[in-house]
Amino acid sequence: MRSMWITRAETSADIPAIREIDLAAFPTALEADLVDALRTDPTAWIDGLSLVAADDNGNLVGHALLTRCHIDDTPALCLGPVAVTPEQHKNGAGSAAVLAALTAAKDMGEHHVVVLGHPTYYPRFGFTRASIHGIGVTFDVPDEALMALTLDTDHPLPSGTVRYAAPFGI
Ligand SMILES: CC(C)(COP(=O)(O)OP(=O)(O)OC[C@H]1O[C@@H](n2cnc3c(N)ncnc32)[C@H](O)[C@@H]1OP(=O)(O)O)[C@@H](O)C(=O)NCCC(=O)NCCS
Repeated sequence: MRSMWITRAETSADIPAIREIDLAAFPTALEADLVDALRTDPTAWIDGLSLVAADDNGNLVGHALLTRCHIDDTPALCLGPVAVTPEQHKNGAGSAAVLAALTAAKDMGEHHVVVLGHPTYYPRFGFTRASIHGIGVTFDVPDEALMALTLDTDHPLPSGTVRYAAPFGI
């Protein structure tokens, strides 16, 4: 595993490369379109919480996005999409991007993050099953796929229903 990726917040110049990463990483354009839609939604998008991982030459290989959601009425962040260009899978770029995003969120004073994703991937970042915190969603999802994390132990996760930003369409 490559140990060092350069991580930083996206700039406007990164937008086409981020779209290319999503198009390459996912079977359809759904996630690429979602990222673009979230970027234009001021209620969802938070500057500084779209993080990229780049190689030494500045080529982008990974992307992790946090956008505003709510757990009932408590502001929280939704992690995803997370994507790495297929040629670089399992080289640590996804982890680097996710960790950079979570660190940036913590530095901004954010407390809570939810993710809907691979239940064997996200626990390495501290995510635990959302249902044990009384957190759920309004649609059917495997229980283990919805996970949550508090960035600050002084702010335990609230219980409630995750309300996603409009571009998620859920
Ligand atoms: C999931 C993804 C972002 C991981 O990025 P990555 O850079 O390959 O992952 P890292 O190198 O940081 O971590 C590698 C670990 O992730 C695990 N992993 C990778 N893809 C996984 C998946 N789909 N499900 C579960 N675990 C996965 C690997 O098995 C490896 O585990 P190990 O450390 O125990 O050996 C990347 O594989 C990807 O873009 N996949 C396609 C898009 C996708 O599924 N995004 C996530 C949606 S929830």
